[in-house]
Amino acid sequence: MPYSNKSMISLYHPQKYADPYPFYRNLQASEAIYWDEPLHSWVVTRYTGVIATLNNIHLSSNRIASFLAHVPPHEREKLKPLSQVLTRMLPFLDPPVHTRQKRFISKIFTNHVVNNVCPYIQHKADELLDGVLKKESMDVLHDFALPLSAAVIAELLGVPEEHRYLFRHRTGLLQGFFSRSMQEVASIIELKEYFYNVLAARRSNPGTDLLSKFVQANEVTSQLNNEEVFAIYLSLFDAGQLTTAHLIGNSMLTLLRHPTQLQILKDTPEVSATAIAELLRYEGPVQLIGRIALSNTSIEGKAIKAGQNIVCVIGAANRDPLQFSYPDQLDIERGKNRHVGFGYGLHFCIGATLALTEAQIAIETLLRRLPTPIFHEAAVQWQEDINFRLLKSLPITFGATP
Ligand code: HEM
Repeated sequence: MPYSNKSMISLYHPQKYADPYPFYRNLQASEAIYWDEPLHSWVVTRYTGVIATLNNIHLSSNRIASFLAHVPPHEREKLKPLSQVLTRMLPFLDPPVHTRQKRFISKIFTNHVVNNVCPYIQHKADELLDGVLKKESMDVLHDFALPLSAAVIAELLGVPEEHRYLFRHRTGLLQGFFSRSMQEVASIIELKEYFYNVLAARRSNPGTDLLSKFVQANEVTSQLNNEEVFAIYLSLFDAGQLTTAHLIGNSMLTLLRHPTQLQILKDTPEVSATAIAELLRYEGPVQLIGRIALSNTSIEGKAIKAGQNIVCVIGAANRDPLQFSYPDQLDIERGKNRHVGFGYGLHFCIGATLALTEAQIAIETLLRRLPTPIFHEAAVQWQEDINFRLLKSLPITFGATP
């Protein structure tokens, strides 16, 4: 029994990456909240505990300031170009600044905007498949999902093809910051320079893209300074690319592992919206959400001290047997699916509609156009990341056309 010694319990469990869910179930069954020493955090795994934590007004999302407090001053200075942007980004803001910025973005990044980008998503998905279908195999993640999500967010924000390389090789701002990556600092300086030139161009000659709309709205209300508009631009790029690509990758793998469910989806495409929500519950790309206690508070009956970290394991909450019947079963027609794959409450994902729509088009297109995809279970490898559930790759070969 690997988890019997409580002092050894940690989300950093080397054997859990292939299948973290039995490990999560063990944690859920033993305690509502526990202290994870290697992670230096309280950890909440049950559905009700996750909802209560994400609703707790004594918790902050500003993980940047608390991290910086432990960084030596000379390094803090070097990280400044990155930390200054991160502290203005939506995921790390607290009210009232968060409320103001979220309201501003939500008025512009609407369902209508997502509907308008659907033809482009379909066009790009088909174009990517046209390229690979000439071969006998493909990597769903690298040949399709990653370039698709990168192209969609670039299209939405009005980044022309020739400048998209600037956003391509980024690892993710927060990871870059926490690992004190100087490469990430250099990349943010380069992006900022690019952004200020684009901003000036959009002011004099607005287009139909989201950035132009942000600029125009701000001209009327003057709510945000240029630094804040840059932070919004990056929030959308950073939070939306990898997550959506990996939802597509994880969903395709899950369907290939469940051929009966895959066939139901092929035969009844009208269930595809419900199916994507279920795939997100079952194998979502985001596993953890972090918070910091602003003042002494209590979570699940445990006293939490100001300054302590709290981690919500949404991947565990989405498999909680007290919330979901038969939680480890994939049911693409599942009703009342109140999963927390996009978070909950104040910081609920602003890109949820885009992510669901894009994944729906991507999976429909893959199922329709791939001639009998065959995958090899032995080749499946997950990245060893506790925050995200990400495949390293998803190679498939094509069988004969049925
Ligand atoms: C917030 C997941 C796609 C932009 C969040 C949160 C989660 C999440 C769990 C809550 C974080 C927290 O409470 O601290 C996902 C997943 C996605 C996805 C699983 C894809 C499958 C997107 C897309 C965009 C986006 C496509 C933008 C185009 C954001 C932003 C926030 C956020 C800006 C911060 C919202 C706030 O702080 O109020 N996302 N996301 N996400 N997401 Fe997503």
